Amino acid sequence: MFKKFLYLFYLLPLTAFAQSEPITDYVARLEKLENFLYIISFISCALIIFTFTYFSFRYKRKTKDEQGSATTHHNLPLEIVWSFIPFVIFMLAFGWGWWLYKDLYSPPKDSLEIHVYGQMWSWEFVYKNGRKTTNEFYVPADRPVKLIMTSRDVIHSFFIPAFKIKQDVVPGQYTSLWFQANRQGNFHVFCTEFCGTGHSVMNAKLHVVPLKEWEDWLKNDPYKGLSLAEIGKKTFQGRCTACHKTTSEKLIGPGMAGLWGKTQKLQNGKSVVADENYIRESILNPGAKLVEGYSNQMTPFAGLLSEEELSGLIEYIKSLK
Ligand code: CUA
Repeated sequence: MFKKFLYLFYLLPLTAFAQSEPITDYVARLEKLENFLYIISFISCALIIFTFTYFSFRYKRKTKDEQGSATTHHNLPLEIVWSFIPFVIFMLAFGWGWWLYKDLYSPPKDSLEIHVYGQMWSWEFVYKNGRKTTNEFYVPADRPVKLIMTSRDVIHSFFIPAFKIKQDVVPGQYTSLWFQANRQGNFHVFCTEFCGTGHSVMNAKLHVVPLKEWEDWLKNDPYKGLSLAEIGKKTFQGRCTACHKTTSEKLIGPGMAGLWGKTQKLQNGKSVVADENYIRESILNPGAKLVEGYSNQMTPFAGLLSEEELSGLIEYIKSLK
């Protein structure tokens, strides 16, 4: 709380004394550079204010008809000093920043790789063994992790505030981020590129856990022992809640309660009964039968859901009354 209060007022040099142990080495190194910049800025600011105030009094006109001296000339040594000192400081900050930047974009060779997909408006994480998760992911502590990221629609941005790392996620190409957390914990992930109506809910959770726990988690089948409707509920919570409510209320898309078996009025004047095939089509190819009063904003889920998840979603929607 105290730390947040300090940040609020940009008294950042003082936060050096209020910080908990940094979560990654990169954060520790970056904070040293940040503190250097804050202290330099603070000293410069104090010097400028001090000399400004001092000169205002020292060279103030003392009598009404006092003339200013017209014989002010260049002072070469002085000019060299006040150009050279800032130059050295700027080069130091540049070199220091470059040294950090270089490591930020050079993930260690033995990094654990995780594929990340951004789409309006959720994050999907895919592990090498095929394990998939939405809006949350697990990594082991004390191991470098590399995220290989791309987008399925528009530009998003992957931001882990506690780790002080952020990277644009762009359709049609891969970008990456890497980190090595030195202790366990849960951390927020935000989308920081305005990507449409659901941008503010495009968040995820990062769980850093001990290696053994992570290995068990990775092998675990997330749907083991669940009924189809329960699988659907899980899928719905990960994929759909940014736009659809489980009540009949409208969010970005229509609410789901009471949808099953209802006759839907479409934009083209026709109508359709919400049965299995209609729901399936509306998930895989949302633009095919647009409901009256809604625009075509949803990302097609064709290829993104397993048959089991699709059937699960349909059973779950059936259960929402
Ligand atoms: Cu994705 Cu904002």
